[in-house]
Amino acid sequence: MLSYDEYKAMIENKLVSFIPEVHPYAATLRESMAYSLEVGGKRLRPVLLLACCDYAGGSIEEALPYACALEFIHTYSLIHDDLPAMDNDDLRRGHPTNHKVYGEGMAILAGDGLLNTACEIMSAQLQSYFSDHDKLVAHAKAGYDIIRSAGVNGMIGGQCADVENETKEATKELVDYIEANKTGALIAAPVLAGLHIAGADDETISHFEEYARKLGQAFQVSDDILDVEGDEALIGKRIGKDLEAGKCNYAYVLGLDEAKEMLHSLTEGAKAAVRMCGEDTEFFTQLADRLEIRKA
Ligand code: IPE
Ligand code: IPE
Ligand code: MG
Ligand code: MG
Ligand code: MG
Repeated sequence: MLSYDEYKAMIENKLVSFIPEVHPYAATLRESMAYSLEVGGKRLRPVLLLACCDYAGGSIEEALPYACALEFIHTYSLIHDDLPAMDNDDLRRGHPTNHKVYGEGMAILAGDGLLNTACEIMSAQLQSYFSDHDKLVAHAKAGYDIIRSAGVNGMIGGQCADVENETKEATKELVDYIEANKTGALIAAPVLAGLHIAGADDETISHFEEYARKLGQAFQVSDDILDVEGDEALIGKRIGKDLEAGKCNYAYVLGLDEAKEMLHSLTEGAKAAVRMCGEDTEFFTQLADRLEIRKA
């Protein structure tokens, strides 16, 4: 296995090359898509995809287009999340949000463009495996893992409940739904997709699924905590916005202390799940530990 930064570098070397060339009349659209992709980001989701594929003995080269497609989808979700009609944020990845630079209309289109391009990247991949049945099936599964997780029973559904319940009374059940979908789904998808591309067995997939579910939940709990006590300069986005908007999140429904306990127990649970696959899962246990104490 490689290090987190090595997987990240592989993704960043390729990412922008997947944006299609466009007619000069659409040049601003291409520029705004590239802006949000290049401006920064941890690349957690694509790194997870490459690492899971690599762990299960698959080809990183085959996995890279899916990793980049997923980062396109994640980036589109952030551009739309930041729009005035949603969270109305002006800082993302340490830089002005897409609509602050390009205007709201272009930001909506940049998000649309990133989502559509992600589908194009994955469809193009399928075409190259028409004569290899097993690979065709594996790649079709990976594409489905990704696109379904971003859909109405995944990220978009979670975002719906997030915006619709601002300033309303939050229950733990509602927050569980919001966070498992708006964030958890796009963190579980790369784990499944990476394992599917590698042709991993069902037992490995089920332990990793449990790992991903807990890691995704932990990731959003820490996002909620960082919105209260994070450092804007490190995290690269405005803090205190969730309280201002009356968001239903763990920091508010549980209180900070209990949210931190939840974060810790989810992290331990994620590590225990992946350890069921063996001792060679350090990459994933270390990642869970690093995410628990992340500041960015
Ligand atoms: C931000 O995701 C949105 C959430 C789901 C909390 P990340 O914290 O992974 O953002 P980047 O990609 O590093 O900017
Ligand atoms: C956003 O959740 C999740 C998605 C973009 C799908 P948040 O609204 O909490 O993310 P941040 O805090 O703006 O990054
Ligand atoms: Mg939001
Ligand atoms: Mg937001
Ligand atoms: Mg947040």
